[in-house]
Amino acid sequence: MTPLPPGSTIGILGGGQLGRMLALAAAELGYRCHIYTPEHDSPASHVAAATTIAAYEDETALTGFATSVDIVTYEFENVPAATAALLAGLTLVAPSATVLGVAQDRVREKDFVAALPGSVPPYRAVASLAELEAAVAEIGAPAILKTRRMGYDGKGQARLKTAADCAEAWAALRGVPAILEGFVPFEREVSVLVVRGWNGDMAHYGPVENSHDDGILSVSRVPATVSPAVTEQAVALARRIAGALDYVGVLGVEMFVVGDTVLFNEMAPRVHNSGHWTTEGAVVSQFENHIRAICGLPLGCTDTVGRVEMRNLIGEDALRWHDLLSDPQARLHLYGKADARPGRKMGHVTYVQRD
Ligand SMILES: Nc1ncnc2c1ncn2[C@@H]1O[C@H](COP(=O)(O)OP(=O)(O)O)[C@@H](O)[C@H]1O
Ligand SMILES: [Mg+2]
Repeated sequence: MTPLPPGSTIGILGGGQLGRMLALAAAELGYRCHIYTPEHDSPASHVAAATTIAAYEDETALTGFATSVDIVTYEFENVPAATAALLAGLTLVAPSATVLGVAQDRVREKDFVAALPGSVPPYRAVASLAELEAAVAEIGAPAILKTRRMGYDGKGQARLKTAADCAEAWAALRGVPAILEGFVPFEREVSVLVVRGWNGDMAHYGPVENSHDDGILSVSRVPATVSPAVTEQAVALARRIAGALDYVGVLGVEMFVVGDTVLFNEMAPRVHNSGHWTTEGAVVSQFENHIRAICGLPLGCTDTVGRVEMRNLIGEDALRWHDLLSDPQARLHLYGKADARPGRKMGHVTYVQRD
């Protein structure tokens, strides 16, 4: 595609911290960002040139938004399929509405990866208690039941220790369409962030080693303490997925490591929390590379500049901003959220030990 020149306007669906960091990176390259979000006082709106506050179903507002920007991208992927389709009819959209449809649904994304073929944990789509019981009989326990759509930060999940937990797990998810996955006794969790341009050029960050607390990402470290064989598989799988989706932008791929093998967990069609360290820890960050990719610019170097650790600041962790800054090596990022509710991602801090 013909590169979108600096000075163009990038529309971002979603107003959270990912949109905020995308808008900051876009501004550095001379672009303007227009945020579309139903939320008032959103983190991204604080740093953007324009904001539309409207529902994702508001066709008039979406049409006005699409005609005021040169391209639309996402920082929040759980928008209705009709929203993505409407926008795609009016302007450039990256990643595509098709990719969004796959990545929004845990069954579709696993079907897609399994067909590549890529390794995935055992899984079954379940739409009733009877189907759940049948799925547990086939897959065995322990297992995890997850909503097919809208889950994040471990929300929308119930664990089954034994087959006797079916009714309770099904009730916990309130009867929405779900997926049952065999519990993976992983040694580590890793992610790879792939960036891919319109012309098929690709680069990647990672594997990144991730630890979660209560289902929420807590710490990301680079380099991951995994074997070269695991690194090769993780990178190959993530790049293969991006290529097969004809993806444009940054794609986050989460994986489990069991022994010397890698299993796909989920993908995020956007910049990813496990890539936040790239702002200080890589030559060009995931945010800038996402902007470069969607605007048709050459991709930037994804090399790391040393050993890196990123810690999420969840809820009241962020109130320690003064203490955190007393370490002069700490690079603090706060998202401008007023209310430090428990479990809410308020910021992160990155430490780089230079090579
Ligand atoms: N099949 C599984 N086996 C073992 N642990 C799992 C499995 N699925 C999820 N988990 C754990 O729960 C976390 C959150 O689940 P995930 O599917 O990534 O959903 P979310 O969208 O909330 O990040 C994972 O990072 C992992 O620690
Ligand atoms: Mg996850």
